[in-house]
Amino acid sequence: MKGGNKLKGEVYISGSKNSAVALIPAALLIDGECIIENVPYIKDVIVLQNILKQIGARMEFIDDNTVKIDSSGVSTFIADHSIIKEMRASYYLMGALLGRFNRAEVPFPGGCNFGSRTIDQHLKAFEALGADVQLEGGIVKMRAEKLVGAQIYLDMASVGATINVILAAVRAEGTTIIENAAKEPHVVDLANFLNAMGAEVKGAGTDMIRINGVEKLSGGKSYSTIPDQIEAGTYMIAAAATCGDVTVKNVIPKHMEALTAKLIEMKVTVDEGEDSIRVIGNPVMKKVNIKTFPYPGFPTDLHPQMSILLGMVNGTSTITEGIFEGRFQYADELKKMGASIISEGRIAFIDGPWRLSGAPVKATDLRAGVTMIIAGLIADGVTEISQIKYIDRGYENLVEKFKALGADIERVEKED
Ligand code: EPU
Repeated sequence: MKGGNKLKGEVYISGSKNSAVALIPAALLIDGECIIENVPYIKDVIVLQNILKQIGARMEFIDDNTVKIDSSGVSTFIADHSIIKEMRASYYLMGALLGRFNRAEVPFPGGCNFGSRTIDQHLKAFEALGADVQLEGGIVKMRAEKLVGAQIYLDMASVGATINVILAAVRAEGTTIIENAAKEPHVVDLANFLNAMGAEVKGAGTDMIRINGVEKLSGGKSYSTIPDQIEAGTYMIAAAATCGDVTVKNVIPKHMEALTAKLIEMKVTVDEGEDSIRVIGNPVMKKVNIKTFPYPGFPTDLHPQMSILLGMVNGTSTITEGIFEGRFQYADELKKMGASIISEGRIAFIDGPWRLSGAPVKATDLRAGVTMIIAGLIADGVTEISQIKYIDRGYENLVEKFKALGADIERVEKED
């Protein structure tokens, strides 16, 4: 790709990756077929499709972004290791299979590597619901006579643990209460999906969720996935970085508030519509500091992208990472392009303004990868990004979308 073009126009935001990877396993709990709309066609979804197929469920795309899932043929609670290690969100199979069969054997999850990323809270919660949990040869093996509702306090507001408890508890006997639950939009989306199928999940979006177990969830219904908050944020940041004028469409502006507030603080123009946001860049942005928090705080998944904007501003600014201590691998890649960024512990110190020049760089994970694209958009000369398989995990039609906004970007087939 070649830098220098201002992004202009409209970009349609896809369905949320982090919702879709929860809704698809959730379909294993449903008797009969269900239809999920607005599913992004991305690598993580395809991996899940393969996993579902392997355990006997049918998941087919009935159009570009609509899937039909029929899990009546699922006959095993054992998920295959070779496919699962490719993705983090495979951990939702634990909650879903346990919830359906009272048993599950699922390999320890893979995915982006930026910190210890343990799942102790998930396992603690499964135990509280009555499962015996053993880790054998990298496989989490769980068995319960029956699952019974329990009161579960999460040590941290973990998105994954919150969703997994909901999945395991939705058909359990009695009531489960999750305290210190994650409040992310995809937690709410999962609860809405399950409720549409007959579940009783209350309080999602607050820090206390109450799940009254029901005997069965019925299919035969359609549900539409929420828009991807992080994809939207990525294009908003890219618009500001290139001093462009971009309207992101199909968004829920409320989900974007933490980013919108920071952009406004930086003197970028942000106009919110009902389901769209227009971002108009400002060549003289104001310095800000950022700290990532669980929702509704500033999302960790927009931290790497935001470093580019801070790098364009005069002076030293900081990003403090409140969720994943290992999220700074992008900084070494940016340095190859001339960025002045130093990470110490959980803080990145950014000394601007940077003058970036194109270089060969790597996508070290999904969000780091897209950060290299934003860097390439403003760098002098040509930037070549390798390991784009990470970016393909979570961004639908990324090259096409950036091109339509005026970026000079091509996908080149090469051995990674
Ligand atoms: N944690 C534990 N024990 C647990 C669970 C979490 O110590 O049992 C810690 C983690 O190590 C981390 C913090 O708690 O420090 C938060 O982790 P959380 O469980 O909330 O994250 P996650 O479920 O692993 C999801 C998203 C991530 C996103 C985080 C934070 C999915 C599939 N993944 O991960 O998305 O960064 O929440 O919002 O929903 C991405 O999309 O690029 C991505 C990495």
